[in-house]
Amino acid sequence: MESVAPEMFDRAGNMEELLALLGRAGIENGWAKREPSMYAVPRKRFIAAHWTFAQTRAALAAAGRFVNTELAERRNLILANPVEGNHYPTVTTLVSAYQMVKAGETARSHRHTSNALRLVLEGGPDMFTIVDGVKLPMMPNDVLLTPNWSWHAHSNETQRDSYWIDFLDVPLTHLLGPMFFEHHEDKVERAGAVDAGSPCRFAFEDIVRRLADAKEFAPGCRRIELGGPAMATIAIHVIRLDAGSSFRDEPSTMSRVYAVMEGAARARIDAADFAAARGDVIAEPSGCAGEWRAAAECFLLCVSDEPLLKYLGWLRAIPAPA
Ligand SMILES: [Fe+2]
Repeated sequence: MESVAPEMFDRAGNMEELLALLGRAGIENGWAKREPSMYAVPRKRFIAAHWTFAQTRAALAAAGRFVNTELAERRNLILANPVEGNHYPTVTTLVSAYQMVKAGETARSHRHTSNALRLVLEGGPDMFTIVDGVKLPMMPNDVLLTPNWSWHAHSNETQRDSYWIDFLDVPLTHLLGPMFFEHHEDKVERAGAVDAGSPCRFAFEDIVRRLADAKEFAPGCRRIELGGPAMATIAIHVIRLDAGSSFRDEPSTMSRVYAVMEGAARARIDAADFAAARGDVIAEPSGCAGEWRAAAECFLLCVSDEPLLKYLGWLRAIPAPA
């Protein structure tokens, strides 16, 4: 990029000379763009994908032998969407990861601007997330929030390794730029009493109770929202499907990541078929049509960027190609 004097443009005798001058000045032209900047409907960046807990659990158990306790908070497996060149996001705005904290281990307190939540797969009454100095029990299928800039640590005071799935809006934080992160001055923040009723904890027993009272949105399918929304950028829904029931996600600008809390489900997302068991994760990126079906009763967690798109006025259905 260099400074090109205005009179140089006056002397441009044809398009090629004008484009050459613009190139020297570091200015792009709008009439013959390298790529169009606007298009009629959204382009798909990511594809549907399925990760099994059976596989990632075994991989994390192996990581437990090689990743020491000092790095316990980083002993996770990132579910990068398998499109070429991608190493991080699961869908446009969200990343998911499996994490394991070994029996007796503590993962250090830290905080970050990215919003996060976790779905507990294997935990117990003496497995805790410490959020801003409060201990939250991590029972199987509990959903725990650690919103923007809240301190959090994990303390496994049980005799067994604990596993969960993390969901964070880090890809969005990367895009917009406001990433801040710090460790706590105490290795693990001092915690007071246990608060099983914290607003940052959605106990599975309460989720089951609420779903029993929820109306059907499709035959045999009930859905509740955890929080309203749970965090500024992320909505969390739990869907209960009776045996044999099904529902459809129409293609929209929203990105979703599903996890199976209980039971098993079959999903057809665009042209891909998946059979998901408890603890599995399925990415349903924006623009995809999803058909979900349960052979037996099933509970699904759905994490999406719905509140973000709603706030921006960009939550829209995407018409099927003509
Ligand atoms: Fe964190």
